Amino acid sequence: MNGTVYITRKLPEEIVEKITNHFHIKMWEEETIPVPREVLLKEIVEVDGLLCLLTDLIDEEVLANAQHLRVICNLAVGYNNIDIEAAARKNIIVTNTPGVLTETTADLTFALLMAAARRVVESSDMLRNGEWGAWSLMQLTGQDVYGATLGIIGLGRIGEALVKRAKGFDMNVLYYNRTRKQEKEQELGIHFREVKELLQQADFVCLLLPYSPAVHHLIGKEELALMKRTGILINTARGGIVDEDALYHALKERQIWAAGLDVFEQEPVPVDHALLSLPNVVTLPHIGSASIQTRMSMANLAADNLVSVLTSGQAITPVDIKK
Ligand code: GLV
Ligand code: GLV
Repeated sequence: MNGTVYITRKLPEEIVEKITNHFHIKMWEEETIPVPREVLLKEIVEVDGLLCLLTDLIDEEVLANAQHLRVICNLAVGYNNIDIEAAARKNIIVTNTPGVLTETTADLTFALLMAAARRVVESSDMLRNGEWGAWSLMQLTGQDVYGATLGIIGLGRIGEALVKRAKGFDMNVLYYNRTRKQEKEQELGIHFREVKELLQQADFVCLLLPYSPAVHHLIGKEELALMKRTGILINTARGGIVDEDALYHALKERQIWAAGLDVFEQEPVPVDHALLSLPNVVTLPHIGSASIQTRMSMANLAADNLVSVLTSGQAITPVDIKK
């Protein structure tokens, strides 16, 4: 045995087996309940490797307890739950799961866009509540997706995958990225805009950038005020990018037309959250990557990273601290 590993959630047997072939493991045996902080603080002390979820906050306090930790494998592409600088100071490698969830998350982003534009959830609820009434000319009318302008903020892998879907709908695609990607503009037929212009010109604004404190509330009152009254905001990245209070008011006062949200500042979002009271918001419980195949691919990649680092010192998909 090459050491011990802690897994913060009960994972499918084939994933666990892959790890037990190499290491002694301990696992939090719940599928739907995150490991309590005090348990994590204790378990981290002795282990060489950690396989964790985005629900686990791996901060300085947790890392200070770790005596032997060499690798943290996050079962997600986003890793804002981990203090990567503190990990680097202790020479702990951090890995994530890029690539394997790209298409699945782009699918869900487009699904949310279409659901918000065509009022799919609101319409379904109305039917089930017995409120269909007669077919009427302007009942449940939404916004067109085909031929509209899409603005993507954060042109990473998922953003690029979203462009392919948008092109199938003859959309005009604008993007903003911290570093402009001129070669992608040619290749994908997309146009760079500063955030302000993008917000003014897009019919749909999709947030697909990683969260860091630098983009906290990137979309607030002033930014929402720049959007069209028919504009729709889609967030499948991280809740903290949007000021939810400002979004609530913009939607309530119909400054913008609708929103589709897969992520929230606090997850699970409290059921009495103001945003959940609005008809023009489609809400999902952070399921961007949730297809059976993709979630298994993510778990396999996290496990492979763990085994690779602890046996050979090499990560397959390390997080780049400079990013
Ligand atoms: C999910 O949000 C992920 O970062 O993989
Ligand atoms: C995430 O994988 C991204 O690059 O968008």
